Amino acid sequence: MLFCKVSTWMAKFMPLLVPAVCASAAVANDHRVVVYYQTTQANNSATAHISLLPLVESAPEVSVTHVLIAAIHIQDDATVHLNNEPPDHTMFDAVWTDAAQLQAKGVTVMGMLGGAAAGSYRRLDGDDASFEKFYAPLHDMIGNYNLQGLDLDVEENFSLNGVVRLIDRLKKDFGNDFIISLAPVASALTEGGGNLSGFNYFDLEKQRGGSVAFYNAQFYYGWGDASSARDYEAILDDGFPADKVVMGLVTDPSNGGGFVSLDDEAPVLQELVAENPRFGGVAGWEYFNSLPGSRNSPWEWAAWMADHIRAAAAGERREIPTTEKAWRGIRKVGRRVRREAKKVYRDYIA
Ligand SMILES: *[C@@H]1O[C@H](CO)[C@@H](O)[C@H](O)[C@H]1NC(C)=O
Ligand SMILES: *[C@@H]1O[C@H](CO)[C@@H](O)[C@H](O)[C@H]1NC(C)=O
Ligand SMILES: *[C@@H]1O[C@H](CO)[C@@H](O)[C@H](O)[C@H]1NC(C)=O
Repeated sequence: MLFCKVSTWMAKFMPLLVPAVCASAAVANDHRVVVYYQTTQANNSATAHISLLPLVESAPEVSVTHVLIAAIHIQDDATVHLNNEPPDHTMFDAVWTDAAQLQAKGVTVMGMLGGAAAGSYRRLDGDDASFEKFYAPLHDMIGNYNLQGLDLDVEENFSLNGVVRLIDRLKKDFGNDFIISLAPVASALTEGGGNLSGFNYFDLEKQRGGSVAFYNAQFYYGWGDASSARDYEAILDDGFPADKVVMGLVTDPSNGGGFVSLDDEAPVLQELVAENPRFGGVAGWEYFNSLPGSRNSPWEWAAWMADHIRAAAAGERREIPTTEKAWRGIRKVGRRVRREAKKVYRDYIA
């Protein structure tokens, strides 16, 4: 699917790119490879832009499927910031031209609202008049920069009615093709698991599952373990469909606790894809220093992920050590037992 609505911003500054954005292009990978892009400048220098273009130019096939530009904050004066500056600051000019060129290659470019700095969702949680006031600048930013979706990273208390109101309004204003994702900590997608959002994700999925394209579940900071298939599968066992659950990973140890080396992640991905053909994909926090290429070639992370997922899906099994094979067998039986126990419990309370 391609987004052909031409933004006012693009028409004004990049008229030559407009036809390219509407040309058809294909992203080769059919599992999601999501990249968060927050550090847009090297060394905090307003002139040292960290380019996204190698993601679409370094190889004939494009590996990344979604780029999430982070983080949008709604300010108390009813304006929005991208990180510490307004989105039309000149330091972001290259961010928006890169974004348009990625879209021209079929990559979905979205915004990410919230994250660790709290306040945006509190401001969207008031009465109708207050909601309108704080929603307006967010709405304008999405339209001005042609964002194709919004990732809701709710790390502060937000009401269920508040998140439902926001989702419904985004769909109403930008159409059904506008993509909504959320970024809960992984445990929030298991029954009784901890969360940072205040509302219950099972209630949200029940009420607005049809409007949520996927969840970028954070398997780090102690809220989920990406070094084994267990926590991901616990989410599926509790009822979330695999194609909606994206495994969120840190891309370098300095980006947060819970980093898993690519060597250790490879067999986990292999198992997840082999066991769950509809595996929802991976998300990386964040782009600028992603391993294995690190600062010099951070785009290699997306290619590495796409290659490994594709190989696993094609059944290219690498030799699995006998002990690992045995553990997988034990986990599989354990899963079946747990699922049955939960079913009995649900039937009992129903
Ligand atoms: C950032 O700083 C490092 C270390 O001082 C330097 O090697 C690098 O070239 C700088 N990067 C940019 C893009 O200015
Ligand atoms: C949300 O509210 C609860 C109690 O009302 C509080 O204990 C908790 O710290 C809050 N969480 C966040 C992330 O602000
Ligand atoms: C998570 O969400 C629920 C709502 O289901 C809330 O009651 C609970 O206190 C939240 N907070 C934590 C830290 O898990």
